[in-house]
Amino acid sequence: MSIQEKLDHLNELEKKAQLGGGEARIAAQHKKGKLTARERLELLMDKGTFRELDMFVTHRCSDFGLDKQKIFGDGVVTGYGNIDGRRVFVYSQDFTVFGGSLSEAHAEKILKVMSLAMKSGAPIIGLNDSGGARIQEGVVSLGGYADIFLQNTLASGVVPQISAIMGPCAGGAVYSPAITDFVLMVKNTSYMFVTGPNVVKTVTHEEVSAEELGGAMIHAEKSGVAHFACDNEMETIRTVKELLGYLPLNNMEDPPVHHCKDDVNRAEESLLTIVPDDPTKPYDIKDIITRIADNGEFLEVHKNYAQNVVVGFIRLNGRSTGIIANQPAVLAGVLDIDSSLKAARFIRFCDAFNIPFLVFEDVPGFMPGTKQEYGGIIKHGAKLLYAFCEATVPKITVITRKAYGGAYDVMNSKHVRGDINFAYPTAEIAVMGPKGAVEIIFRKEIAKSDNPEFLTEQKLDAYREKFANPYIAAGRGYIDAVIDPRQTRPRLIEAFDMLRNKRDTNPRKKHGNIPL
Ligand code: HXC
Repeated sequence: MSIQEKLDHLNELEKKAQLGGGEARIAAQHKKGKLTARERLELLMDKGTFRELDMFVTHRCSDFGLDKQKIFGDGVVTGYGNIDGRRVFVYSQDFTVFGGSLSEAHAEKILKVMSLAMKSGAPIIGLNDSGGARIQEGVVSLGGYADIFLQNTLASGVVPQISAIMGPCAGGAVYSPAITDFVLMVKNTSYMFVTGPNVVKTVTHEEVSAEELGGAMIHAEKSGVAHFACDNEMETIRTVKELLGYLPLNNMEDPPVHHCKDDVNRAEESLLTIVPDDPTKPYDIKDIITRIADNGEFLEVHKNYAQNVVVGFIRLNGRSTGIIANQPAVLAGVLDIDSSLKAARFIRFCDAFNIPFLVFEDVPGFMPGTKQEYGGIIKHGAKLLYAFCEATVPKITVITRKAYGGAYDVMNSKHVRGDINFAYPTAEIAVMGPKGAVEIIFRKEIAKSDNPEFLTEQKLDAYREKFANPYIAAGRGYIDAVIDPRQTRPRLIEAFDMLRNKRDTNPRKKHGNIPL
């Protein structure tokens, strides 16, 4: 064969591989409103940069007649390329080939790109669309999953790992995305569950659809498994790219710096009136976040889950900044189990990847009640405390209003290594709110009084005057500066700039023992 004939043969093989499970299956995939593995990569990667690896890999199983069904690629397209000019490694499961199910060879392909991603310090993005373990391969495919879980764990905190769920993701297969840093799901066409509706019906007699059991909104709102629920595949891919724009390529790098067109000295008149004069009135903390962020842009993470805390990314003078904020508009911003978990995980991500973070604090305390206590608010709240304590990236707090009780300590106080702690003049820093405090410390006096209502009001006023302000804390140096809310953006940009070269470490250890 001449070289030209050999090249033609190669072309033919490549074309065959690119067709995956064939035209009929591609049409079936489109009919379900889903793109193919390769179409997704086309949208995700910068044009012309994707380099495929292992295109001609096939499975090695000969049971159940599989020796007669070998398809190039074996159900997953893997390789590397660029997103916005930055290197990433990807795998994209091809549902048209054995339902994207994971064989030994399929797993080896994923492991190869994961290992290359770790060695070369670049994020790994998985586009998942799979019927799970290749049933015909039995334990060999289970082993393949376990190898991936191990690699996910070793990569955790080394390179960012992002999982987009674009179809089924069932059984033990869910644990790979679950270990990764961010999970995105597509509404109506993706689902994740440990056991599907049929098994659920057999075991618990519950009748539930796949969507109700593990659809995108269920995981975005109820379980918190999904960080983003997107309307369609295009939006999912757009969100992956937007998210990557805030992240460094690996744990040894700083996040990318974007050119900032927004005025760094921008004062915001409206910040004077967002926090209401009445301390019992709610307001939306996102109104503050978007006013201080570059161009008002905020990528909210876990938007639909535990909304009493808000987390996500902004840029300040072009630099990525994590946001952790109590949300007075939901449950008065109280900290409960879910919000503690949500915030703790986000803080640990930021800290692992050198992303400075900013805390907006307006918190009446931890949620009381048997539901929370039985659910373990003590150990879950401790995770949040632990995460703030161990973080060594630049950490700034702005107390906008309430900083009560244990929540004052927890929310990145000076005592847990907050670097710069600002307060608005509206801040109230106390062991508890005025009503509860007065009822406890003046109970006997009020009970004996001829006019208990009048005395209570008097005591409340006195308590408020003493504690419902930031000046006792500022007098101790627990607050570094009480600032004019209008100056929040410039003050934050200056303070993060001052902290740019911050170096802080924790004692050497194998790893800490976060109260899981
Ligand atoms: C081998 C599979 C497969 C699998 C699907 N296929 N899943 N082949 N192993 N796990 C094949 C089908 O036989 C079919 O081939 C083709 O892929 C498309 O599947 P359909 O069923 O026609 O598609 P659809 O109707 O869209 O249904 C998709 C599905 C269903 C809901 C995912 O295929 C399904 O329930 N699959 C099994 C899911 C499952 O139980 N997996 C194991 C989970 S446990 P043909 O040639 O007929 O078109 C697990 C353990 C992991 O994964 C453990 C880690 C520790």
